[in-house]
Amino acid sequence: MERTRSEERRLSTFHTLYSKYITKIASFPENFSGILTPYMCGIVGYIGKKEAYPILIKGLERLEYRGYDSSGVAIMEEGDILIRKKVGKVAELSKLVKETLPNSKGRVGMAHTRWATHGEPSDVNSHPHTSNSGNISIVHNGIIENYLSIKKILVDKGYKFESETDTEVLVNLIEDVKKESKVSIDEAVRLALLEVAGAFAIVVLSKKDPNTIVVGKRGSPAVIGIGDGEFFVASDATPIIEYTDKVIYLEDDEMGVVKDGELTVKTIHNEVKNPYIQKLEMKIEELEKGGFPHFMLKEIYEQTRSITDSVRGRINAKEGIVKLGGIESHKEELLSAKRILMLACGTSFHAALEAKYFFEELAGVPVSVEYASEFRYRNPVIYKEDLVIAISQSGETADTLAALKLAKERGATVFGVCNVAGSSIPRETHAGIYTHAGPEIGVASTKAFTAQITVLLLLAVFVGKENGKLTVSQVKEILAEMENVPVKIEEILLKEGEVKKIAKELYEKKDFIYLGRGYGYPMALEGALKLKEISYIHAEGLAAGEMKHGSIALVDENMPVLFIANKGVHHEKIVSNMMEIKARKGIVVSLITEGDESTKKLSDFCIELPKTSDLIMPFVASIPLQLLAYHIALLRGADIDKPRNLAKSVTVE
Ligand code: F6R
Repeated sequence: MERTRSEERRLSTFHTLYSKYITKIASFPENFSGILTPYMCGIVGYIGKKEAYPILIKGLERLEYRGYDSSGVAIMEEGDILIRKKVGKVAELSKLVKETLPNSKGRVGMAHTRWATHGEPSDVNSHPHTSNSGNISIVHNGIIENYLSIKKILVDKGYKFESETDTEVLVNLIEDVKKESKVSIDEAVRLALLEVAGAFAIVVLSKKDPNTIVVGKRGSPAVIGIGDGEFFVASDATPIIEYTDKVIYLEDDEMGVVKDGELTVKTIHNEVKNPYIQKLEMKIEELEKGGFPHFMLKEIYEQTRSITDSVRGRINAKEGIVKLGGIESHKEELLSAKRILMLACGTSFHAALEAKYFFEELAGVPVSVEYASEFRYRNPVIYKEDLVIAISQSGETADTLAALKLAKERGATVFGVCNVAGSSIPRETHAGIYTHAGPEIGVASTKAFTAQITVLLLLAVFVGKENGKLTVSQVKEILAEMENVPVKIEEILLKEGEVKKIAKELYEKKDFIYLGRGYGYPMALEGALKLKEISYIHAEGLAAGEMKHGSIALVDENMPVLFIANKGVHHEKIVSNMMEIKARKGIVVSLITEGDESTKKLSDFCIELPKTSDLIMPFVASIPLQLLAYHIALLRGADIDKPRNLAKSVTVE
């Protein structure tokens, strides 16, 4: 397969940043309802000759593009660690520091932007967090999965906790290890990190070691910048690049310790490393997008990670267990529901439609999927026994919010599936599940969609298992396949070059039709929406069986018809539809299962999907559909991240 240099560079950035992390799905955690701080938060650290604060605050501003809801800073100052933290924009933190710490001159410090996924963003949950003695402070990006068992041990030893975060547990674990083992701060961090399961990028400061900064990494990214007698730390190189172009990307389970002006890199198993110092050649804008030309493409590539994060801590495939902490309190209403009603708009509506197929197949529960904008202005029949699920990336879509309020007023139990913690929809619902896709910046929704179908599939499996529709061995099988999705997505991402070639052949077409059956039908709708919203080509998604009832009249030699033609239960029927299009000289584009030579022969263009069950096909099929829309839009010179007339969050009717 051919790849251009820029694709190679992007892939290698992608692999450096995400790859090792994404293929490893978390083992079974103990609790799911804690306030967790995931991957997409930003960290900055500094130790050197300059005043730390201006570097830190500027660093946070550089990391704002990652999305966040609160921020904080810690400065080492005359034997003390001074901390300020605040919900809201970095500008508010900066105002707070101006008012309360106007003369901060410390030369060592760290800062953090937090994107909450569980619980409300609040001052107390913001970072930095400090140990009980007040001696050690930390900023953390990631999820400590076994924090509850560690917390229990610490509580038994008399430790007190202000927040519900996993991070506050980690900093107290470090303190406890330091006290018990009487070791240096870096050794205490190392020993503590041996105890934790999960993902982290951390910076640690200790009052008693004012010339030391300790960094650790597993899963979440951490970069150390090497200046002239000074060192910088950050989640990516954007806060660093204006000071130095020499950086070290820490590997998983590595630590960086700067002590008295010297940097040592070692593993948490105490093996000293000779790190590779990289010269940065990218500009800031390129760095923000992780080396990708657009946020949309970056977000397409992030799906291995965002799916992993959405599953993380929620399944145990070996035991066949799904645990969704956010719905625990209203589990009975879910399990006794006679009907599930899903409310959503746009791409989220397509995720809901996919979920209807999941629920009916796996849980045997009838599901109605409604456009929120229609539902709210009808006089819908809602029973108290209905379980309503509002699905929204932003959590702010006006129609979805109004529709769920209506359902709630009429007595239904309402769940939310949202990506933005603390947004309006999660606040209005009785219970819910967050998708951990991370901030989605490109207007066209990509990683949020696959994260939505991920958590909805988990929910359907949960209900199916609880109501006896699924056996434990069926649950195990589905979860094992689900665990493997990130690997399959990596495989299909490697086919970007092939998708690009198809885009080159078709980008001047005026119309497209997308056809699918079963799980492929919502994919056809979503593929068509992606294409029209960013390339401005008219596209229609249809249930393939409906084509002959009208739309086939549109087909001639200028009409590309894209088929979701994986080798599943509907394959024969889809092949018949392909023949019908061929007979009318339409251009057949297909997503087929790898090795399906006969369907390939029928197609003018095709992309082979890795083998999956029907159920898992939507996860892998999403990627080429998104990439095709992206490359067609690129060739047409469209404004991909901000398509005309569209807003990321539709907060008006
Ligand atoms: C399409 C897209 C929109 C949104 C829709 C709902 O790519 O992004 O169709 O899906 O506006 O938005 P949320 O999910 O935020 O409620």
